[in-house]
Amino acid sequence: MSQVVLQLQNIHKKFPGVHALKGVNFTLRAGEIHALLGENGAGKSTLIKVMTGVYQRDDGDILLNNQAIFPNNTGDAQALGISTVYQEVNLLPNLTVAQNIYLGREPRRFGLINWTKVNQDAAQLLKGYDLDIDVTQPLSSYSIAVQQLIAIARGVDMSAKVLILDEPTASLDADEVQTLFRIMRDLKARGIGIVFVTHFLDQVYAVTDRITILRSAQLVGEFETATLSRAELIGHMLGKELAALGEHKPQAHATSGDALLSVQAISRQATLSPTDIAVSKGEVVGLAGLLGSGRTELCRLIFGVDKKHSGNVTFHGQPVNFSSPRDAIIAGMGLCPEDRKHDGILGQLSIRENIILARQVKQGWWKFISRKEQEEIANNFVKELSVATSDIEKPIEQLSGGNQQKVILARWLAANPSLLILDEPTRGIDIGAHAEIIRLIRKLCDQGLALIVASSELEELVAFSNKVVVLRDRQKVTELTGDEINPQRIMQAIAAH
Ligand SMILES: Nc1ncnc2c1ncn2[C@@H]1O[C@H](COP(=O)(O)OP(=O)(O)OP(=O)(O)O)[C@@H](O)[C@H]1O
Ligand SMILES: [Mg+2]
Repeated sequence: MSQVVLQLQNIHKKFPGVHALKGVNFTLRAGEIHALLGENGAGKSTLIKVMTGVYQRDDGDILLNNQAIFPNNTGDAQALGISTVYQEVNLLPNLTVAQNIYLGREPRRFGLINWTKVNQDAAQLLKGYDLDIDVTQPLSSYSIAVQQLIAIARGVDMSAKVLILDEPTASLDADEVQTLFRIMRDLKARGIGIVFVTHFLDQVYAVTDRITILRSAQLVGEFETATLSRAELIGHMLGKELAALGEHKPQAHATSGDALLSVQAISRQATLSPTDIAVSKGEVVGLAGLLGSGRTELCRLIFGVDKKHSGNVTFHGQPVNFSSPRDAIIAGMGLCPEDRKHDGILGQLSIRENIILARQVKQGWWKFISRKEQEEIANNFVKELSVATSDIEKPIEQLSGGNQQKVILARWLAANPSLLILDEPTRGIDIGAHAEIIRLIRKLCDQGLALIVASSELEELVAFSNKVVVLRDRQKVTELTGDEINPQRIMQAIAAH
């Protein structure tokens, strides 16, 4: 076995009211890919932030190559050789790619930044990652996937011994994930130790050597990936068998058959070709397709976020023409967006305030929801969705990533919509909460709610959809019903030429 590069011993971290890490140990070897796993709120991101100096540990030791280290911020950690790439890329979108790569360490000549060299070096560096791009363009002109690779290239170039990736794949498509994995394996071969946080178990088995599992702020154990079965892994994460959560069985809901929403030939230039979709009361319509296939665009057009260029929409038997999401909310629709970080959470506001927001918009601000009722609603959903928090008055930004997503889902449920559009509802959500959310979706449909759910996870679509609309290249290619709703058939439709 290769040598230990980073060792954490007996790490404790407390936040007001939360003991987020209780004596956790973690060992990373040079040249390994090490998965850090656990349920939402288990303490993964906190452990990483302790390693990288974002938070200071309350107790315990961090040894890098057997030397105790005390990083006070990410800059310190980086200087020691610990680089981190978060799900949200932490670079500066308006600077060029090259400027981002050499930010703060630009090559100089006679005291002046040598821009020609910056650009040449950046291009050369990225070639090593198979990225043949124009490094003089702003970072923001590239996809999130490319931005993440750029962030990795920057981190590694600043002499990384340890590379930490916290849910880097949550917004990548299948090809982009493969590219990332190839690069991770290259870096591993160069002797870098990689910590990888993900909720996708397939990815754990595809790329990691060892696994450390946290549960409720404590270490469950360290395992060899090759010898830990999926069932054991899930058992360790949840502290119970997945079977106890209930099977994901496809099941036919009784639907009224009357269209609640009927959309004909809705389109928007350069975003979506004319598309039809109909949803009945109690029905779940799944939207399948690759990233960029038009799923999110369709959701946004229906909800009035973007303006449609053509098409007719009938809702509750009435023609409607929403010019803003507010119109759609008042009419009884909800949209839980894909990019919750930007379109969803209001970080400084409390969990309670985040939950009641859509309901308040629907009722109108002049009919203010009483504090007591707000508390009832919020506590109810916190319980129903098992949001891990001790207090609904905490700012939502203090919740773990997955728990923030549950709160946004609660926001839309609290507005009592008749049609709810969910764009990737379980992204970043752990496997236990995932099963709970699917169960909740089914229950809501039995109560008559209609749903449109866009998801990249085929098993998930199969588990709850009555009908699956498949999009490809910004248009609808087919609609599957009954026995046609199975992963193979959906995959074929997504991939067919
Ligand atoms: N800045 C903070 N202030 C207060 N509490 C916090 C803060 N950051 C994290 N916590 C709490 O610490 C606990 C662990 O959160 P952490 O973000 O480490 O979870 P995680 O394992 O990364 O979960 P996820 O899979 O949802 O990202 C949670 O209870 C969270 O609410
Ligand atoms: Mg996290």
